[in-house]
Amino acid sequence: MNVEHQLRPLESEARVPLRIAVVGTGLLGERHARFWGQQDNVDLVGIVDLDLGRANRASERLATTFGIPRPPVFMSLDTLLASAAADAVSVATPDFAHRVPVVQALDAGLHVLVEKPLAMTTADAMVMADAARRAGRWLMVNHSMRWIPRYRAVHDAIRTGEWGQMVVAHSAKSDVIHVPTEMLRWASRSSAAYFLTAHDLDLVRWFTGDRIVRVFAQGARGVLDRRGIDAYDAIQSSVTFASGSIASFEASWIHPNTYPSFTDDYMHVICEKGVAYLDRGREGTEVFDTDRVRHPKHSTVYEQDGRIYGSFRHSLEHFTRSIRAGTEPLTSARRVMGVVSALEAIHRSLETGMPETVDDQPVY
Ligand SMILES: NC(=O)c1ccc[n+]([C@@H]2O[C@H](COP(=O)([O-])OP(=O)(O)OC[C@H]3O[C@@H](n4cnc5c(N)ncnc54)[C@H](O)[C@@H]3O)[C@@H](O)[C@H]2O)c1
Repeated sequence: MNVEHQLRPLESEARVPLRIAVVGTGLLGERHARFWGQQDNVDLVGIVDLDLGRANRASERLATTFGIPRPPVFMSLDTLLASAAADAVSVATPDFAHRVPVVQALDAGLHVLVEKPLAMTTADAMVMADAARRAGRWLMVNHSMRWIPRYRAVHDAIRTGEWGQMVVAHSAKSDVIHVPTEMLRWASRSSAAYFLTAHDLDLVRWFTGDRIVRVFAQGARGVLDRRGIDAYDAIQSSVTFASGSIASFEASWIHPNTYPSFTDDYMHVICEKGVAYLDRGREGTEVFDTDRVRHPKHSTVYEQDGRIYGSFRHSLEHFTRSIRAGTEPLTSARRVMGVVSALEAIHRSLETGMPETVDDQPVY
């Protein structure tokens, strides 16, 4: 599964800026655009959104708030590519809308960084991975949590053999209700599992280096239904790996908006010779303002001198390094395909009420 794939290195061209576009200019897409626009060795060649007004407002903010040369705005990747050359693209469209722009970009010969989850179905994920292989371009998924040092430390302790095999892991991730009711206009077309468990499934699967063979999931509903949003409030998923290790993942997105952080985040990992308790809820910082308490997050995204730091930055830098060096990204589509298969099986299990097998096989 982890056979190293290589492309021709571009080291000799390391000083030539990479020309990068962004498709989808919502919360995440604008962050990608801002990051690329602030890199010395990257030219942000344009931003794309079906909602031209949204893209125009993002372009304006990038220029006026962050001093980035105002990126041209387009309604489709085709029109962008007709007027500007590009080497790569970030795709940050909603979870259900990754396949079309990803395949279009790969077919046009661009490397692609796509937001998590890669896809909502294994069929879509396979189409995208095939397009990458055909094009000889990298398709990387932004599973940026892998660049948070404490998760990397757990990974290394397990994969070097120091802690032996993982026995059991448990994670709980909770968003405030603002996320499905106000932030995302498409919560009913995704789920707490696709949106939140995608991160932790990827982490635990990476820790073990193992295949997921079976899942069983249960969901609870009511709060969001009453708000007219057709989505589970919470989903619990129980996962079995080929070696016999087990893990459970809880995702919910109905915390009151007064909660001190946007996402609460907890995981424990129990191994044969070591245990880790990873409480990312507070990250050790509690801030008391005059009117509220906050637990600011510093591991994923934070700002310093107007620039973006944290695991988001490391993940995006890994993408450009992979392009320049010709080395396969740590989170290439084919490597994280099993996350999509498991998420799809979790939703099958929610429907059938039964355990479901997962086809987490090595991909080419
Ligand atoms: N890595 C993380 O921690 C993280 C956090 C939040 C969201 N995400 C992921 O990022 C992606 C985007 O989420 P978001 O919160 O920015 O969503 P959003 O709704 O804020 O933005 C999505 C944008 O894509 C546009 N769009 C939809 N279809 C399009 C198409 N075919 N072509 C061009 N534009 C299109 C929409 O008009 C919208 O402006 C999702 O997959 C989400 O799960 C990742």
